[in-house]
Amino acid sequence: MSKLKELIDKERLPRHVAVIMDGNGRWAKKHGRPRVFGHKNGVQSVRETSEAAAEIGIEYLTLYAFSRENWKRPKLEVNALMSLLVDTLRKEINTLNDNNIKLEAIGDIKKLPAKSYTSLMEGIENTKNNSRMTLVLALNYSSRWEITEAARKLSEDVKKGIIDPQNIEEGNIISRLETNRYPDPELLIRTSGELRISNFLLWQIAYSELYFTEKYWPEFNKEEFYKAIIDYQSRERRFGLISEQIKT
Ligand code: IPE
Ligand code: IPE
Ligand code: MG
Repeated sequence: MSKLKELIDKERLPRHVAVIMDGNGRWAKKHGRPRVFGHKNGVQSVRETSEAAAEIGIEYLTLYAFSRENWKRPKLEVNALMSLLVDTLRKEINTLNDNNIKLEAIGDIKKLPAKSYTSLMEGIENTKNNSRMTLVLALNYSSRWEITEAARKLSEDVKKGIIDPQNIEEGNIISRLETNRYPDPELLIRTSGELRISNFLLWQIAYSELYFTEKYWPEFNKEEFYKAIIDYQSRERRFGLISEQIKT
């Protein structure tokens, strides 16, 4: 068994870990290959990270797979990513079921190409009874879009007289976000050395611990995931209080 895995305190696990899977293109370039080769190799890291998370007892793992901004990439790359999604979903459904992992998605998924949307919905349907962990794919997702949509839905409810603007509180926004059925991520991981959020879960990471690694996504594996969890467990989450208040 992995030495790192043994160092993880099972009593202090994050319930929800979110990951910005970045660096596929640079990893491919480093190996003198086209960007798509990097995306293909990133699938193995998705598999390893999902298994590692499920094995240690993480309840929710959210992976940023495609942003609304990513449509602006070269058409060839966008098409390759969309067909990779279809292939991967079809191939991995059995593994998800073997591992008792439920698949869900956040984002404007109805606007995905029909084939991608259909295989995503099949994956969600075929794993809906699994209960060990929920794997959430962020697809055609952006946080500002999600918050704007929440504002629109809330305005409609105000217009209908369901809510009085005077009574609007955080909960009314939270319940209208794509993530309304998940707790906020306690830990956010970004690979590839970039130190930014790129329009991911802006509302939900208000108090998340951030973990950045230089590893490119195709290099990320179980051991790297354990490292991130151990690092998270070394931190003191204060939520605006002082250290002494946390310890009592
Ligand atoms: C992440 O890797 C995958 C997606 C955004 C779909 P990139 O494709 O962004 O790789 P880099 O950042 O260009 O190396
Ligand atoms: C963020 O990575 C989006 C995903 C991982 C899907 P990007 O590579 O698109 O982000 P930027 O462009 O470096 O900010
Ligand atoms: Mg990138």
